[in-house]
Formats: sequence, C-alpha cells, structure tokens
Amino acid sequence: MLNSCKLLFAACLVPAVLGQTAVTEITGSSPTAEIALSSATGTWTNPPAQTPSEAASGTRTSSAQQPAQTQPCNLHVEFCARRYSNITYVGAHNSPFVGGGNMAANQNLDVKAQLNDGIRMLQGQTHRMNQTIHYCHTSCDLFDGGPVEDYLRTVVGWLRDNPFEVVTILIGNGDSLSVGNYKEPLEKSGLAELAYVPQERNIKVDQWPTLSEMILMGKRAVVFMDYKADEGTIPYILDEFKYMWETPFSPTDENFPCTIDRPPDQPKNDAQGKLYMANHNLNTEISLIGHKVLVPDTDSLNQTNGVSGFGSLGLMANNCRADWDRYPNFLLVDFYDVGSVFEVAARANDVEYNRPCCGKRKSTASPLVKATDSLLLLPTLAILLSIVL
Ligand SMILES: *[C@@H]1O[C@H](CO)[C@@H](O)[C@H](O)[C@H]1NC(C)=O
Ligand SMILES: *[C@@H]1O[C@H](CO)[C@@H](O)[C@H](O)[C@H]1NC(C)=O
Ligand SMILES: *[C@@H]1O[C@H](CO)[C@@H](O)[C@H](O)[C@H]1NC(C)=O
Repeated sequence: MLNSCKLLFAACLVPAVLGQTAVTEITGSSPTAEIALSSATGTWTNPPAQTPSEAASGTRTSSAQQPAQTQPCNLHVEFCARRYSNITYVGAHNSPFVGGGNMAANQNLDVKAQLNDGIRMLQGQTHRMNQTIHYCHTSCDLFDGGPVEDYLRTVVGWLRDNPFEVVTILIGNGDSLSVGNYKEPLEKSGLAELAYVPQERNIKVDQWPTLSEMILMGKRAVVFMDYKADEGTIPYILDEFKYMWETPFSPTDENFPCTIDRPPDQPKNDAQGKLYMANHNLNTEISLIGHKVLVPDTDSLNQTNGVSGFGSLGLMANNCRADWDRYPNFLLVDFYDVGSVFEVAARANDVEYNRPCCGKRKSTASPLVKATDSLLLLPTLAILLSIVL
C-alpha cells in the first residue's frame, strides 16, 4: 500500500485531503481498482507546504502529518466526508426550460450558469420528438429545450472541468418510453461513464457513499428516472422511487406540506429509509396554445424562494425537518436566481453561506471557483483524476 503511495503519490494525497479516516477500498473496473487507499497509514513522501496560518501559529505537529483539508467537494470542504445522502442540494426544476418571455420557462439561466452558481440537481421533463428525445415542457410545440444528448453533453463538459463536483440528474420520462430509448443520449453525451451505480439495488439513506468516495471512483453523476427505469436493462439509470420520495409536485398550495406524494401508498418507515425531495415551485394554471399548463407563479418568487416567512423555501425546509427528523435532500425550485435558495441550503447543511449568486441573465456566468483553496493541491490531484476518470 505504501508502495502504491510512492508510485501514486496523488492517490494517497487525495483521501488525506478529503478527510478520510478509515481505509477506503476503491473497487470496480476503473484503473484504480487495485489501489487500496488509506490515509490512516499513508506516510507523506512529500508533504505539502504549511499553510500561512499553520506557519504563523506552528500548529502542525510532527504526528499530524496530514494537511488541513482544503479541497472543497461540491463547494464545501465539509461535504467531502459526508454521505451523498446527508446533503441538501438545490435543484433546478425544469433546468432546460430557460428563457425570459416564454410562459413555459422555469429558469432564467442556462445549465452551465446553473452549475457554476451551485445548482447540483438538474431536473427536466423529456418527450420524444421525431425519434429523438428532447427536453420539452408538456409538449414540444410549447417549449422545446433541445435534444437531451446536447444538454447532457454540456453537463458532462462541466463535470470534467470541475472534478470535485457531484451532480444529480433527474429525468422525467414524460412519454413513459421504455428506458432503452435513453441509452443513446446518455452514452453519446458521456454521462453514462460518470454515472454512479450502487453495488446493491435499493440502497438506503445510510448506505450511500461519501462525496469523496464518489469523486475517487469517478462516479460523479447520479441519474434517476421517475417512470420506466429498469436497472436490469440500464443499471446507471436509477429507479427514482426506489431511492427517493417527493412532496406534491407542481404545487399550487403555498403551505407546501411536507407529505409524501410519490410514490403513492408508501409506508412512513419505508420513506424514512429514502432520500427525499421537496418540490418548492409555486404554480398557477394557465391556458397556452391549447394546453392547460401549470406555469411558475413568478409574482410570488421572491417569497417562494426566500429564507423565511409564509410560503418560503426556508420555512418548508424547517417544516420538513420537523416532520422527518432530517432536511430534504433536494430543494427543487424555479428561477433559482431570484430569492436566496442557496442560503436556505447552507443553513440546512450547517455550512457557511459565503458565495455570491448568481450568474447574469443572458451572459456567460463567471466560474466561481475559489482558486486560493485549491491551487496548492490541484497539480497532484489532476494526476490522480486523469487516472481515475
Ligand atoms: C420533426 O419532423 C417534422 C416533420 O418531418 C418537421 O417538420 C420538424 O421540423 C421536425 N422537427 C425537428 C425538431 O427536427
Ligand atoms: C425580494 O426580497 C429582497 C430581500 O428580502 C428584497 O430586498 C427585495 O426588495 C425583494 N424584491 C421584491 C421584488 O419584492
Ligand atoms: C445530515 O445529518 C445531520 C446530522 O444528523 C442532520 O441534521 C441533517 O438533517 C442531515 N441532512 C440530510 C439532508 O440528511
């Protein structure tokens, strides 16, 4: 093990950086399969320089060879050692439906800006259009968000550019197509390779890996589908309701009750073993090109996406916590750039809320990477990741 540490210094550095205390076996078919990682036994062949604060205070002792953990996972250092299932993520409801002026739009900023801003769940409804699967809102003549493959290619590009981030993709199978139809867009976009497949089906909330484990495995996308998933046919498209339940979707009730809507008839103790999603996008019904459709209640957005007060995301998160003893895993919102949705998530996650939000409409958002935190480690980590990915 120490030999592999010497050969693959980065492989030993990473778990230490990521705050792993226990031995982590990386198994699977990736080239890292043979490497057993242990920061507990790992000896620094080349310890990173002291940080300025350590130098000033002399806090690094000889027995504490591990550097302070500085590499964020999903934007927060604290998340590296946390299970995927013990984090509250902000999700973009109908992420591909971007556009001012279109009544059927749900977001102001495109998927790349969403990810740069901190959105870590991307939900969207899909429909078949001329033999190709598109992201479409209710119907492709109402809002055509383009082919799923193109959208996912953008997501994959972002994931490759941001190797310490884990993103969840929730696919709404609007036409109840057989899951085989999704193989091509997922594989051609490159998403399939990055998709996490649990070693056992139906893993419970306390069985998900930590973010650092997922990062080391190179499995940084969790793909769920609401209907017609079949893990026997396509293992990397997880059957949403085996792993997760949701509060009422397309809600029109500002009370946002934290009750189970889907899957139906689920006993409470089954629900307690699952992830859960709070649908927190307020809707009104309108008639549009002959379709009755629920559209975001944009007049109330500031309140809906607010930290506190009646109808707010913050209040719903707290109510959910009171009802279920844990915060929701996913807070699904419309127009995430209005209000303060990331502040709500930071509170639920008990981490500092310290990032500006959000990208500007109709211009490219600047990447919000905090270079100072990761500069020291990036060269070595890059070596590892080029091996892992
Ligand atoms: C779908 O097919 C119809 C009929 O051939 C065509 O008019 C339309 O432009 C096609 N749409 C797309 C998005 O390719
Ligand atoms: C939205 O909320 C913020 C913070 O409470 C407030 O400063 C702002 O004026 C509100 N905007 C609207 C349009 O109500
Ligand atoms: C994560 O765990 C903490 C501590 O048990 C808990 O307060 C919090 O609600 C959990 N969050 C989620 C999303 O499970």
